[in-house]
Amino acid sequence: MKIAIYPGSFDPITLGHLDIICRAADLFDKVYVCVMVNCEKSHPMFTPQQRLEQIRRSVAHLGNVEAELWSGLLADYAREKGASCLVKGLRSATDFDQEYQMAAINRGLWEQLETVFLPASPAYQHFSSTMAREMIRYGQPLERYVPEPVARELEKK
Ligand code: PNS
Repeated sequence: MKIAIYPGSFDPITLGHLDIICRAADLFDKVYVCVMVNCEKSHPMFTPQQRLEQIRRSVAHLGNVEAELWSGLLADYAREKGASCLVKGLRSATDFDQEYQMAAINRGLWEQLETVFLPASPAYQHFSSTMAREMIRYGQPLERYVPEPVARELEKK
């Protein structure tokens, strides 16, 4: 059974993230979406629990995808889940530079841990959680940026 982890801070999950999750769910038997702390991003808009619930609602239709919280090292989470692959989406060369380094660090922590890069679909290449937060702050319609259940919930508020 091929198990993969799709990690991130997901503040909030975007349609670009969901696209990568759906594609990973086709490639692997099981995908764990792991909501983590990114120490470089110190003022999140949503709590980890809110982000987790947003993801769970967004992936409810995918039978082989589960979402969880983890506050430790990603390599430890992967080992605990028996996952030999991390999945990362790449939008640009800047993403690649960062992700290439992280892949090396993670492999240094556990040598069996590979990172698989999926290029962002063209429609989502400019998508980011930063942009989604900006749209939320300015009260813009959200269904073009975040999964439909998340857009509905946030627009109600
Ligand atoms: O969505 P993000 O913010 O780009 O995700 C970055 C994240 C959370 C995947 C990264 O910061 C991470 O892996 N944090 C967990 C701590 C860890 O394992 N660090 C070592 C690898 S850099």
